[in-house]
Amino acid sequence: MIVQRFDHEDALAAALASRLVDAIVRNPRLVLGLPTGRTPLPLYRALRALTARALVDWSGVRTFNLDEFAGLGGDDPGSYRAFMQDALFDHIPLDPANIEMLDGRAPDLAAECLRYEAAIAAAGGIDIQILGIGANGHIGFNEPAGELHAHTHVATLQRATLEANAMLFGGDPDRVPKCAMSMGMGTILSARQIVMIALGEEKSDCVAGMVNDLISTRLPASFLQVHPHATVMLDHAAASKLI
Ligand code: GLP
Repeated sequence: MIVQRFDHEDALAAALASRLVDAIVRNPRLVLGLPTGRTPLPLYRALRALTARALVDWSGVRTFNLDEFAGLGGDDPGSYRAFMQDALFDHIPLDPANIEMLDGRAPDLAAECLRYEAAIAAAGGIDIQILGIGANGHIGFNEPAGELHAHTHVATLQRATLEANAMLFGGDPDRVPKCAMSMGMGTILSARQIVMIALGEEKSDCVAGMVNDLISTRLPASFLQVHPHATVMLDHAAASKLI
Protein backbone atom coordinates (compact mmCIF):
# COMPACT_ATOMS: atom_id res chain seq x y z
CA MET A 1 0.00 0.00 0.00
CA ILE A 2 1.29 3.43 -0.85
CA VAL A 3 0.37 5.97 1.87
CA GLN A 4 0.27 9.65 0.93
CA ARG A 5 -0.28 12.47 3.46
CA PHE A 6 -1.61 15.93 2.68
CA ASP A 7 -1.75 19.18 4.64
CA HIS A 8 -5.32 19.90 3.61
CA GLU A 9 -8.26 18.02 2.10
CA ASP A 10 -8.25 20.38 -0.88
CA ALA A 11 -4.63 19.48 -1.68
CA LEU A 12 -5.54 15.80 -1.46
CA ALA A 13 -8.57 16.33 -3.68
CA ALA A 14 -6.54 18.28 -6.26
CA ALA A 15 -3.90 15.53 -6.42
CA LEU A 16 -6.48 12.78 -6.84
CA ALA A 17 -8.54 14.75 -9.37
CA SER A 18 -5.45 15.31 -11.46
CA ARG A 19 -4.54 11.60 -11.21
CA LEU A 20 -8.03 10.73 -12.47
CA VAL A 21 -7.87 13.25 -15.31
CA ASP A 22 -4.48 11.81 -16.39
CA ALA A 23 -6.02 8.33 -16.32
CA ILE A 24 -8.92 9.51 -18.51
CA VAL A 25 -6.46 11.04 -20.99
CA ARG A 26 -4.59 7.72 -21.18
CA ASN A 27 -7.82 5.70 -21.36
CA PRO A 28 -10.85 7.71 -22.54
CA ARG A 29 -13.07 4.68 -21.76
CA LEU A 30 -11.97 4.54 -18.13
CA VAL A 31 -14.26 2.67 -15.72
CA LEU A 32 -14.41 4.43 -12.37
CA GLY A 33 -15.76 3.08 -9.08
CA LEU A 34 -17.19 5.86 -6.91
CA PRO A 35 -18.08 6.26 -3.23
CA THR A 36 -20.55 8.44 -1.36
CA GLY A 37 -20.08 10.12 2.03
CA ARG A 38 -18.55 13.39 3.18
CA THR A 39 -15.01 12.26 2.37
CA PRO A 40 -15.20 12.36 -1.45
CA LEU A 41 -16.95 15.76 -1.56
CA PRO A 42 -13.69 17.76 -1.99
CA LEU A 43 -12.74 15.38 -4.83
CA TYR A 44 -16.10 15.86 -6.53
CA ARG A 45 -15.73 19.65 -6.17
CA ALA A 46 -12.26 19.45 -7.74
CA LEU A 47 -13.54 17.35 -10.64
CA ARG A 48 -16.38 19.82 -11.21
CA ALA A 49 -13.90 22.70 -11.26
CA LEU A 50 -11.63 20.95 -13.78
CA THR A 51 -14.69 20.11 -15.91
CA ALA A 52 -15.78 23.77 -15.87
CA ARG A 53 -12.35 24.65 -17.27
CA ALA A 54 -12.89 22.06 -20.07
CA LEU A 55 -10.02 19.93 -18.80
CA VAL A 56 -11.91 16.62 -18.64
CA ASP A 57 -13.44 14.61 -21.48
CA TRP A 58 -16.13 12.54 -19.79
CA SER A 59 -17.68 11.27 -23.03
CA GLY A 60 -16.35 7.72 -22.80
CA VAL A 61 -16.05 7.36 -19.03
CA ARG A 62 -18.26 4.85 -17.17
CA THR A 63 -18.96 4.90 -13.45
CA PHE A 64 -20.16 2.30 -10.96
CA ASN A 65 -21.13 3.37 -7.46
CA LEU A 66 -20.24 1.17 -4.53
CA ASP A 67 -23.59 0.89 -2.83
CA GLU A 68 -27.19 2.02 -2.37
CA PHE A 69 -29.86 1.83 0.34
CA ALA A 70 -32.45 -0.89 -0.07
CA GLY A 71 -35.96 0.42 -0.67
CA LEU A 72 -34.96 3.90 -1.86
CA GLY A 73 -35.46 5.04 -5.44
CA GLY A 74 -33.18 7.60 -7.03
CA ASP A 75 -35.85 10.28 -6.49
CA ASP A 76 -35.63 9.81 -2.70
CA PRO A 77 -33.42 12.60 -1.30
CA GLY A 78 -31.76 10.11 1.11
CA SER A 79 -30.64 7.80 -1.68
CA TYR A 80 -27.03 7.60 -2.76
CA ARG A 81 -28.28 8.20 -6.32
CA ALA A 82 -29.64 11.61 -5.21
CA PHE A 83 -26.38 12.29 -3.36
CA MET A 84 -24.32 11.52 -6.48
CA GLN A 85 -26.55 13.61 -8.75
CA ASP A 86 -26.18 16.57 -6.42
CA ALA A 87 -22.45 16.14 -5.69
CA LEU A 88 -21.23 15.25 -9.17
CA PHE A 89 -23.44 13.85 -11.91
CA ASP A 90 -25.64 16.95 -12.36
CA HIS A 91 -22.52 19.04 -12.91
CA ILE A 92 -20.46 17.03 -15.40
CA PRO A 93 -21.29 15.86 -18.94
CA LEU A 94 -21.26 12.14 -18.19
CA ASP A 95 -23.56 10.18 -20.51
CA PRO A 96 -26.41 9.02 -18.21
CA ALA A 97 -26.20 5.64 -19.97
CA ASN A 98 -22.65 5.35 -18.60
CA ILE A 99 -23.68 5.89 -14.96
CA GLU A 100 -24.40 2.64 -13.17
CA MET A 101 -25.89 2.46 -9.71
CA LEU A 102 -27.64 -0.28 -7.79
CA ASP A 103 -31.42 0.25 -7.89
CA GLY A 104 -32.68 0.30 -4.30
CA ARG A 105 -36.24 -0.13 -5.56
CA ALA A 106 -35.54 -3.25 -7.61
CA PRO A 107 -38.28 -5.81 -6.90
CA ASP A 108 -35.72 -8.59 -6.39
CA LEU A 109 -32.62 -7.27 -4.59
CA ALA A 110 -30.64 -10.50 -5.04
CA ALA A 111 -31.27 -10.36 -8.79
CA GLU A 112 -30.26 -6.69 -8.80
CA CYS A 113 -26.94 -7.63 -7.15
CA LEU A 114 -26.32 -10.27 -9.84
CA ARG A 115 -27.19 -7.74 -12.56
CA TYR A 116 -24.65 -5.32 -11.11
CA GLU A 117 -21.82 -7.86 -11.05
CA ALA A 118 -22.61 -8.75 -14.67
CA ALA A 119 -22.65 -5.07 -15.67
CA ILE A 120 -19.23 -4.52 -14.09
CA ALA A 121 -17.86 -7.57 -15.90
CA ALA A 122 -19.42 -6.44 -19.20
CA ALA A 123 -17.69 -3.05 -18.79
CA GLY A 124 -14.36 -4.89 -18.56
CA GLY A 125 -14.01 -4.46 -14.79
CA ILE A 126 -13.27 -1.34 -12.76
CA ASP A 127 -10.05 0.49 -13.61
CA ILE A 128 -9.86 2.78 -10.56
CA GLN A 129 -12.01 2.28 -7.48
CA ILE A 130 -12.20 5.27 -5.13
CA LEU A 131 -13.10 4.36 -1.55
CA GLY A 132 -13.94 6.06 1.71
CA ILE A 133 -13.81 4.19 5.00
CA GLY A 134 -16.34 3.94 7.80
CA ALA A 135 -15.06 4.70 11.30
CA ASN A 136 -15.64 0.98 12.06
CA GLY A 137 -13.42 -0.02 9.12
CA HIS A 138 -16.15 -0.78 6.59
CA ILE A 139 -15.71 -0.21 2.86
CA GLY A 140 -18.81 0.15 0.74
CA PHE A 141 -21.26 -1.50 3.12
CA ASN A 142 -18.96 -4.41 3.92
CA GLU A 143 -19.34 -4.21 7.69
CA PRO A 144 -16.94 -5.79 10.22
CA ALA A 145 -18.02 -9.41 10.76
CA GLY A 146 -16.75 -12.96 11.13
CA GLU A 147 -17.29 -13.53 7.43
CA LEU A 148 -17.45 -11.18 4.46
CA HIS A 149 -19.19 -11.36 1.09
CA ALA A 150 -17.14 -11.63 -2.08
CA HIS A 151 -19.76 -10.26 -4.45
CA THR A 152 -22.44 -7.58 -4.57
CA HIS A 153 -24.96 -8.47 -1.89
CA VAL A 154 -27.65 -7.22 0.47
CA ALA A 155 -26.06 -5.97 3.71
CA THR A 156 -27.52 -5.27 7.15
CA LEU A 157 -26.11 -2.02 8.51
CA GLN A 158 -24.58 -1.70 11.96
CA ARG A 159 -25.64 1.01 14.41
CA ALA A 160 -22.43 3.01 13.88
CA THR A 161 -23.08 3.03 10.13
CA LEU A 162 -26.70 4.13 10.58
CA GLU A 163 -25.41 7.00 12.72
CA ALA A 164 -22.71 7.92 10.18
CA ASN A 165 -25.33 8.12 7.43
CA ALA A 166 -27.94 10.01 9.48
CA MET A 167 -27.00 13.32 7.81
CA LEU A 168 -28.86 12.11 4.70
CA PHE A 169 -32.02 11.58 6.77
CA GLY A 170 -32.40 14.79 8.75
CA GLY A 171 -29.83 13.68 11.33
CA ASP A 172 -32.02 10.80 12.55
CA PRO A 173 -30.24 7.39 12.49
CA ASP A 174 -33.60 5.64 12.94
CA ARG A 175 -34.71 6.93 9.53
CA VAL A 176 -31.70 5.38 7.77
CA PRO A 177 -32.69 2.17 5.94
CA LYS A 178 -31.42 -0.86 7.86
CA CYS A 179 -30.41 -2.69 4.69
CA ALA A 180 -28.40 -1.74 1.64
CA MET A 181 -26.80 -3.32 -1.39
CA SER A 182 -23.04 -3.14 -1.72
CA MET A 183 -20.24 -4.33 -3.91
CA GLY A 184 -18.52 -7.19 -2.11
CA MET A 185 -14.91 -7.48 -1.03
CA GLY A 186 -14.02 -9.40 -4.18
CA THR A 187 -15.80 -6.87 -6.39
CA ILE A 188 -13.78 -4.07 -4.78
CA LEU A 189 -10.46 -5.93 -4.72
CA SER A 190 -10.85 -6.87 -8.41
CA ALA A 191 -10.42 -3.21 -9.41
CA ARG A 192 -7.11 -2.66 -11.19
CA GLN A 193 -6.28 0.26 -8.91
CA ILE A 194 -7.78 1.28 -5.57
CA VAL A 195 -7.53 4.73 -4.01
CA MET A 196 -8.77 5.05 -0.44
CA ILE A 197 -9.37 8.55 0.96
CA ALA A 198 -9.71 9.22 4.70
CA LEU A 199 -10.04 12.59 6.44
CA GLY A 200 -10.18 13.59 10.07
CA GLU A 201 -9.29 12.29 13.50
CA GLU A 202 -12.37 10.05 13.69
CA LYS A 203 -10.81 7.86 10.98
CA SER A 204 -7.34 7.66 12.58
CA ASP A 205 -7.92 4.39 14.49
CA CYS A 206 -9.36 2.45 11.56
CA VAL A 207 -6.71 3.86 9.22
CA ALA A 208 -3.95 2.71 11.59
CA GLY A 209 -5.56 -0.73 11.81
CA MET A 210 -5.99 -0.92 8.06
CA VAL A 211 -2.32 -0.15 7.39
CA ASN A 212 -0.48 -1.61 10.41
CA ASP A 213 -2.52 -4.56 11.73
CA LEU A 214 -3.00 -8.10 10.44
CA ILE A 215 -5.72 -8.58 7.84
CA SER A 216 -9.05 -9.25 9.51
CA THR A 217 -12.70 -9.54 8.54
CA ARG A 218 -13.24 -7.42 11.67
CA LEU A 219 -11.62 -4.54 9.75
CA PRO A 220 -12.70 -5.05 6.14
CA ALA A 221 -10.49 -2.21 4.84
CA SER A 222 -7.40 -4.18 5.99
CA PHE A 223 -7.87 -6.38 2.90
CA LEU A 224 -6.47 -3.51 0.86
CA GLN A 225 -3.08 -4.72 2.12
CA VAL A 226 -3.20 -7.58 -0.40
CA HIS A 227 -4.09 -5.40 -3.37
CA PRO A 228 -1.18 -4.92 -5.80
CA HIS A 229 -2.01 -1.29 -6.62
CA ALA A 230 -3.63 0.44 -3.63
CA THR A 231 -3.00 4.03 -2.58
CA VAL A 232 -4.19 5.50 0.72
CA MET A 233 -4.57 9.31 0.67
CA LEU A 234 -4.85 10.90 4.12
CA ASP A 235 -4.91 14.24 5.82
CA HIS A 236 -2.64 14.57 8.86
CA ALA A 237 -5.45 13.93 11.34
CA ALA A 238 -6.44 10.64 9.68
CA ALA A 239 -2.76 9.64 9.51
CA SER A 240 -2.00 10.62 13.11
CA LYS A 241 -2.03 7.07 14.57
CA LEU A 242 0.01 5.35 11.85
CA ILE A 243 3.17 3.67 13.12
C1 GLP B 1 -20.99 5.10 4.10
C2 GLP B 1 -20.65 4.52 2.75
C3 GLP B 1 -19.17 4.24 2.62
C4 GLP B 1 -18.39 5.46 3.06
C5 GLP B 1 -18.65 5.70 4.52
C6 GLP B 1 -17.84 6.85 5.09
O1 GLP B 1 -21.32 4.15 5.04
N1 GLP B 1 -21.38 3.32 2.46
O2 GLP B 1 -18.87 3.89 1.27
O3 GLP B 1 -17.02 5.26 2.82
O4 GLP B 1 -20.02 5.97 4.67
O5 GLP B 1 -18.55 8.04 5.02
P1 GLP B 1 -17.92 9.47 5.29
O6 GLP B 1 -17.01 9.73 4.13
O7 GLP B 1 -19.08 10.40 5.34
O8 GLP B 1 -17.18 9.38 6.57
